[in-house]
Formats: sequence, structure tokens, C-alpha cells
Amino acid sequence: MRILFVGDVFSVKGREILARQLKKLRQEKGVQFIVVNGENIAHGHGINEKYYHFLLEQNVNVVTLGNHAFRNHDIFNFIEDARNLIRPLNFPSGVPGQGFLTVNYNGKKITVFQVMGRIFENIALDCPFQLTEQLLKNVKSDLYFCDFHGEATSEKAAFAHHFDGRVHIVVGTHTHVQTNDARILPKGTMFITDLGMTGSLDGIIGVTPQNIIKKFLTGLPARHDPMEEGRSQFNGLFVELDDHTQKVTNFEVIHVIE
Ligand SMILES: [Fe+2]
Ligand SMILES: [Fe+2]
Repeated sequence: MRILFVGDVFSVKGREILARQLKKLRQEKGVQFIVVNGENIAHGHGINEKYYHFLLEQNVNVVTLGNHAFRNHDIFNFIEDARNLIRPLNFPSGVPGQGFLTVNYNGKKITVFQVMGRIFENIALDCPFQLTEQLLKNVKSDLYFCDFHGEATSEKAAFAHHFDGRVHIVVGTHTHVQTNDARILPKGTMFITDLGMTGSLDGIIGVTPQNIIKKFLTGLPARHDPMEEGRSQFNGLFVELDDHTQKVTNFEVIHVIE
């Protein structure tokens, strides 16, 4: 089985390069299952129904979110009906939406879930480790894929090692910067600390540089306008799993600049 994970798609440049690259990778690599982080797809902040459907039209199987999940208020209008959309599992109970999704694919049950890290995140969150333990116990599946949305590299690595051999693939998102550490852990889990973002390359993690530089120079608040000029980047991870053993047989870190 050939799977592709794509990191935080940011605004218009992100959507454009995503559409081009997904088409190309489906043709060239025979990608069968696609998971995309869409927390920045609507003007850099959150997701709306229009862009959720845009992702489905690109043959995306599962859309994940993150700390920006509820930044665009349109989400409250469609999240309960969005079957292919997940937000962090460790948001407190009562928060709309689902933290995991189980799909039947080629006779296999695949559970995709997202958790959010608690280091450097100013959001009320339950423990990602304990909730994942509960999920693995209560939701029986052939394969488990996790989008760990977090800032701290240590927290992501601790999570991946703790669930090594139990969660098949753990991909980090959120920092918008791709890490050079994709590897198969000792008990078989595929892990990368961060996929990186998909969108502007010449901005600062997706945003126009001038405002962010001014913020650092003056301490004044800055508007986070998406960078819409210059080059684009597409970042993700391609993984091939053996259909019988469920082991990773091949992987490739994807980093394309246009
Ligand atoms: Fe993001
Ligand atoms: Fe984020």
C-alpha cells in the first residue's frame, strides 16, 4: 500500500501546489491513500467547507487539523457532517468533531488519528499519550496512522518511541519546517518529526516576511497575511507498506520547490 502524508497546506499557494503535486505523485508513484493537514488552508487560519471539499476533490482520504482547527468559524457549520475530517483527539470532551477516523480500504481497516502536543501550546488539552492508549484499546484496526501536531521535537519523538510497533506511522506537523530525520524506529514505526508546510517558500512559515520581522523588531502585534508571491514548496512523506506484514518497505521524504 502506498500512502502519502502532506504537511500544513497554507492558503492559496498551498492549494495550488498541492493540486499539481498530488496529481503528479498519484501518476508517478501510484499513491493510493492520502492524508493532508488542512489547518492553514483558508487564508492561513483554519478551514472552511469550500476548501474541505477542494481537498476531497484532490482525492484526499483524510484531512487533519491542529491548533488552528476552529480559527475559521465556518467549521462549526460543517464539522459534524465532515466524515473525512479529524481534529486533535485530545481536545477536551464536548469539542465538536472527531479525533479519529476508521476507513475500510482494500479489505483493511485503517484508523487515522491526530493528537496535539502540550509543550509550548496554550490550549486546554488532555494527555495525548493516555488518549492514544485508549484509542488503541477501544478501536480495533489493521493499521494506525497518527498526525502528531506539536511544537516540541522531544515530545513528538517520545510519543513515536512510546508507540513504536503499535502505531504504524507517526508524522509530525505544525512547525511548518521539514525535519531531516525520517526513519523506521526499532520496532517498526515509521516516524518523522515534522513533514514541513505546503505553500509559500519565500514567506516566514507561510506569512509575508515584513509583518513578522516588524513584530520581532518592535514587539508590536502583526497581521499574519499569507505570502502570495515568490516560490512555493510542497512537503510530505511517501510510505510503502507491505500488504501482508504491514511493515514499511520503502519511504521517501518529499520536498519540492516550484
Ligand atoms: Fe500549521
Ligand atoms: Fe499548528
